Amino acid sequence: QENVPASPPSGVGLDGLRQAAAGCRACELWEPATQTVFGEGPETARIVFVGEQPGDQEDRRGEPFVGPAGRLLDRALADAGIERGDAYVTNAVKHFRFTPTAKRRIHQSPGAEHIRACRPWLEAEFEVLKPEVVVCLGATAAKALISPSFRITRERGVLMPWTPPGVARAEAGDDEPDEDAPAQTWMLATAHPSAVLRVPDADRPKAYDALVADLRVVAGALA
Ligand code: URA
Repeated sequence: QENVPASPPSGVGLDGLRQAAAGCRACELWEPATQTVFGEGPETARIVFVGEQPGDQEDRRGEPFVGPAGRLLDRALADAGIERGDAYVTNAVKHFRFTPTAKRRIHQSPGAEHIRACRPWLEAEFEVLKPEVVVCLGATAAKALISPSFRITRERGVLMPWTPPGVARAEAGDDEPDEDAPAQTWMLATAHPSAVLRVPDADRPKAYDALVADLRVVAGALA
């Protein structure tokens, strides 16, 4: 089957986008995956978290960040004073990419072509949400949204002014000015929760505390 570029419908809200994305054929990842894992959270969310792609449990359940990485994220958000239920959580790529083995499905990082193919969905999410703060969880999201040369280790935890691509498109169009868009959107990149889980035992508390410290910067920006 040929790939069909993603073309998110406009004016349908997050639920309409989710329905449309369920049938996405913009890359080949849909076929072995169980389902599209679209973003989740209220349309009124002021903050958007962008991960890499769903993992094994997310693929089965159809929800982002509900596996081990999601549990760590939940704990870190709580420790930073951010309600997950007030935030919108999504991924740069919305299908699980994996190598099947007899025992389990092994996560494979998405390629540049998958990130590119999936990007219209992310832009459409931004366009609806008009977030005040966008948080990149890990290098995949940061490279996709900030710059290919972005290095988490060097540049994490810093709020930067940033214009979401979907919102910029809305402003450039001949529509009415976007009155509900915030005057400024901020971007911050931090470690991926899975990366924290991979840190050896002895150093993991420090890695976790660094994640929470970055999330406190986010909480401060929303206060
Ligand atoms: N890792 C991600 O990047 N996203 C998820 O939804 C789960 C794990």
